[in-house]
Amino acid sequence: MPKVMVVGAGAVAQVTVCKLARRPDLFPEIVVASRTRAKCEALAARHPQARIIPEAVNADNVAQTVALLEKHRPALVINLALPYQDLPLMEACLQAGVDYLDTASYEPPDTPKYEYRYQWEFQERYQQAGRTAVLGIGFDPGVTNAFVAYAAKHLFDELHYLDIIDCNAGDHGRPFATNFNLEINLREITQPGRYYEGAQLVEVPPLSVSQDVRFPEIGVRRAYLIFHEELESLVKHFPSLRRARFWMTFGESYLMHLRAFMNVGLTSIEPVDYEGCSVVPIKFLQKLLPDPASLAPDYKGWVSIGVQLRGTYQGQPRTAYLYTNIRHEWAYQDCGAQAVAYTAGVPPAVAAELLSTGAWKPQPGVWNVEQLDPVPLLERLPAAGLPWKAIIDYPLDFIDTPE
Ligand SMILES: NC(=O)c1ccc[n+]([C@@H]2O[C@H](COP(=O)([O-])OP(=O)(O)OC[C@H]3O[C@@H](n4cnc5c(N)ncnc54)[C@H](OP(=O)(O)O)[C@@H]3O)[C@@H](O)[C@H]2O)c1
Repeated sequence: MPKVMVVGAGAVAQVTVCKLARRPDLFPEIVVASRTRAKCEALAARHPQARIIPEAVNADNVAQTVALLEKHRPALVINLALPYQDLPLMEACLQAGVDYLDTASYEPPDTPKYEYRYQWEFQERYQQAGRTAVLGIGFDPGVTNAFVAYAAKHLFDELHYLDIIDCNAGDHGRPFATNFNLEINLREITQPGRYYEGAQLVEVPPLSVSQDVRFPEIGVRRAYLIFHEELESLVKHFPSLRRARFWMTFGESYLMHLRAFMNVGLTSIEPVDYEGCSVVPIKFLQKLLPDPASLAPDYKGWVSIGVQLRGTYQGQPRTAYLYTNIRHEWAYQDCGAQAVAYTAGVPPAVAAELLSTGAWKPQPGVWNVEQLDPVPLLERLPAAGLPWKAIIDYPLDFIDTPE
């Protein structure tokens, strides 16, 4: 792959660039383009052994991005900006004839509700142009989708129930901080919880459903039902699923702060007038709180992300739990990052490697991760820093487990 372009220079991009920079054989030139050029320059300075070219771009502006792509002619764009940039970047890649990866599905800025339909609409145009887009190749979505695809092919005859569980059991020592972009994170968590029951999407009030889960090596943590984008693509691609849910753990202090912010309107995306200035409360809150990347040096403890599946194998009921446990300290030692950014940033670098070596050769079109062969990705993850395990018939002590 002659050149790759990373768009965005935040917490997740920092990890992806760290991993790409270690493979000059595959990625001899890495363009890092983001809104703030100084952040791209800082990333380049962290990896003097690699050829990293910093650039400024407003990825909302298709013409500007196309001009930059035509200047550098990368083979692949890795979009690690925000979900709002997915559509303009997919459009720019089509116009410039470049393949595309991202880690989060598009969400309209004025509607906090992500849906894949906006990106799936590019399918025909990508096919006609002979270009490929891989959507959602972080950890969740990303590796979680690959876990489900692997289980469907190798561990089950039929999948019935899916629970994706994201547990951050680490401590960063701050009263309140988010682990990735605050605006995107709080928009996700403060939405109504949604999950699939059969073909129906069931909606519950935000953070109103929770249960204790016993995580391997960590112990019991309280997990809250929230909506997450991979549920939408997974129920579409695995129609035997009778139910699909996503859970995220939160500690008491986090929830106490979050509820206070919600109660006083600080998580609102509606602009308010303050002394003649239009202020969006959630963006103001983001200014006040720590940059997620800055948490890395002090962060200690485990992050655990996995999928629990139930179904049948050779006519018998079976449960499988596929998961990764890593420590914040390990992520810091490897890439100077905290583990949430690390789990999100390693998979796009591995995906770029699989595409560049031909281990993944998707047909032209727009694909979710579960539509690609999960084996090359899962085989490569441990060496890239994300070990994983599959445990058969080890239910995670869910209170309401069916069957
Ligand atoms: N799948 C997963 O497992 C997973 C997990 C966590 C996060 N994510 C996704 O990863 C992405 C990055 O998250 P993060 O925590 O790294 O966010 P972040 O630290 O806020 O970084 C975002 C970067 O995008 C840049 N950016 C924003 N708008 C831009 C624009 N219009 N043009 C060019 N650059 C722009 C920002 O520029 P400035 O520096 O100027 O602000 C910043 O460098 C998000 O989409 C998030 O949802 C995925």
